[in-house]
Amino acid sequence: MTVRNVLRMGDPRLQQLAEPVSDFGTEALRRLLEDMRDTMRATNGAGLAAPQIGVPLRVVIFGFKHNARYPDAGEVPETVLINPQITPVGDVIEEGWEGCLSLPGLRGCVPRFSQISYTGRDETGALIARTVGGFHARVVQHECDHLDGILYPMRMRDMRKFGFTSELFPEREVPEE
Ligand code: NI
Repeated sequence: MTVRNVLRMGDPRLQQLAEPVSDFGTEALRRLLEDMRDTMRATNGAGLAAPQIGVPLRVVIFGFKHNARYPDAGEVPETVLINPQITPVGDVIEEGWEGCLSLPGLRGCVPRFSQISYTGRDETGALIARTVGGFHARVVQHECDHLDGILYPMRMRDMRKFGFTSELFPEREVPEE
């Protein structure tokens, strides 16, 4: 079990363009995914991108049955997504609250496509192709943005809807991040 240090906004490694994975089923990839899962679990994350632990590869993980940091979110299947591609379905854009392990304690209201199709590979190289909406679509867009060096405040349109979770939602018990 290795919980890795999560880089925080301001670290230039979070602004890099990550490289595609070319070899699947390798020991290095297996270890990376194990560290990412351990780190996500230890921090109650809904998702994690490899650049957040300082690995500049196009690898994200996400998913949960119930997430303490997003108590209102429905279940999202636990997924390893490598070399992802996202295509919006329709042009409906929805604002919703997001947090990020790289911006501990903060939340912001971020516009995202409400429906997307995405493709990618799992750790064995098998193709994944899904069409999803709601929080699932939001998580995928958030995590894949990390691969292009984009953090959620860079997507925001109204900075008045950005702040500390404890101030924005004083009535809600959200675990400290
Ligand atoms: Ni994030």
